[in-house]
This record gives sequence, C-alpha cells and structure tokens, in this order.
Amino acid sequence: MAQNNSTKKILGVAFALCIVCSVIVSTAAVALRPLQMLNQELDRKTNILNVANLYESGMDVEAAFGKVTPRVVNLETGEYSAQHDPETWDGFEARRDPAASRTLSGERDPAGLTRVENYVTVYLVGDPDDPEQIILPIRGQGLWGLMRGFLSVEGDGNTIVGITYYEHAETPGLGAEVNNPRWQAQWEGKQVFDEAGDLTPAIRVAKGSASNEHEVDGLSGATLTSNGVTNMLQFWLSPEGFGEYLAKFRSGVSQGQAESADVELEAQGA
Ligand SMILES: Cc1cc2nc3c(=O)[nH]c(=O)nc-3n(C[C@H](O)[C@H](O)[C@H](O)COP(=O)(O)O)c2cc1C
Repeated sequence: MAQNNSTKKILGVAFALCIVCSVIVSTAAVALRPLQMLNQELDRKTNILNVANLYESGMDVEAAFGKVTPRVVNLETGEYSAQHDPETWDGFEARRDPAASRTLSGERDPAGLTRVENYVTVYLVGDPDDPEQIILPIRGQGLWGLMRGFLSVEGDGNTIVGITYYEHAETPGLGAEVNNPRWQAQWEGKQVFDEAGDLTPAIRVAKGSASNEHEVDGLSGATLTSNGVTNMLQFWLSPEGFGEYLAKFRSGVSQGQAESADVELEAQGA
C-alpha cells in the first residue's frame, strides 16, 4: 500500500488543490463581474453628484442622478454628437483608435496625456437645453501618475461649482490633499476665464495663497501636484479640450443643441 506521504501522493493532492482553487477563483471572478460593473457605475454617478454639490450620504444615487443628462461632445467643434450614444460611448477605447483620437505633444500637451479622444462625455444638471451645471471629465499627470476627476461649472460656462478626483496616486497628506474638502471648497465661485473673449483659461492653483478670482491656494508641500492640477485645467478648458464647447455657453448660444442631438439619435435608432 502506497504511503500517505509519498512524493506522488503529495504532488497529486497539491495539483488537485490547485485545480479546485483556480476553478473557485475564476468562477468568483466571472460571477462577480456584473456586480463590479454595477459598483463602478454607482461610483461614477456618486462622484458626478459630489462635484455638483448634489450628493448627500445615504441618498438614493440612481434617483438623484435622474436630473443629470449625459451628452457626447465633439471637442473640435464644441457641438453635441449625433453619432455617439452617451450610454455606450467609451472614450478609453477611442484613445486606442487612431481614427477616433489624436496625438498631443510639447506645448499642446500640458497635462501629459500623449493622446486625446475626439469625443468626450459630459454631464448636464437640470434642463439639458439650459443646464444649471456642466460637469466635465478632466485628467492629467500629477507627481506620481495620472489623476482623473471632474470639474463642474455653472451654465454660464465660466463659474466653477467644484472639482473632485476619483483616481490618483498622490501622497496622502501632500498631493492627495486635492480631495481635502477644505481645499475643494475654495473652488466654488472661481472664474475660469478672465475676459469674455479669452480662449486661454486663467484658472490656476497659486504657489502660496490665492490672490484673485482665478486662483486657489497652492497645496502646501505639494507644488508638483498643484502644477499638475493647473496643467490639466489649462488643457481641458482650452480650445484643445472643452474650450469650443464652453464658448457656446459663454456666448449664450448653447440652447437647443441637446434637443437637436436627441432628434438625430432617435432618427438613427440609437
Ligand atoms: C515621499 C515623498 C512623497 C511626496 N509626494 C508628493 C506629492 O504627492 N505631491 C507633490 O507635489 N509633492 C510631493 N512630494 C514633494 C515633492 O518632491 C516636492 O518637494 C514638492 O512638490 C515641492 O513643493 P513645495 O514647493 O510646496 O514644498 C513628496 C516628497 C516625498 C519625499
């Protein structure tokens, strides 16, 4: 009779255990995928409500998100796209497609993005034809890696409501203070542009204390992260980013865009 501690038996048991464990892990991964997707979606909606000052702890996020309308914007023209369904449009995939994105370098890439998609989803609070707030996704390099977040501006396309980051690799107590509510509170009411006709955004994180309506205080001991925030806002609020789109709100000609996009989407059966 073979001994229980023979090499063959030990290897056999180890192998069987490996198979059982890998089956359990892969089943769990596949079974939990839909739940993960649901949680990601809930997290995205929570962040959007948060930057719009509409989030309260314990609230029904899905119900509150009812007053938020997603739209896909053509960055070049600043118009809403009739070809892209905001529910399914995936900017991440678009960045890997040379036909759906463009390269950035040098001065045209202050946020260190290298590539940007041609169409981006924005979120409108209230009446989409005359929104109370326009929520823009922003991303750019911090000190340790890419930072992703949202910036909300009022329907005038100029006055900031809030900023939040849902993904970053900055150091707790230093760069990660971007999510400190006291620092975030300073953004409310700040003005993106100086003069009505300006294309270059004036908003920035100051080195030290803010001295005007286009500045917020620098993060103490985290100048490099602060610069990253300024750089990504310089990019996303310029004509390379949402500049053309915001210009329509600043000049008051945005009304009716969303309605026409709806009609075209319906016509295409999207
Ligand atoms: C371990 C470690 C982590 C740091 N993390 C950050 C950070 O997340 N963001 C940042 O801007 N600076 C960070 N710094 C500091 C930067 O190296 C740099 O000194 C700082 O940004 C300069 O800002 P100041 O001029 O306000 O002092 C870190 C430094 C060390 C040693």
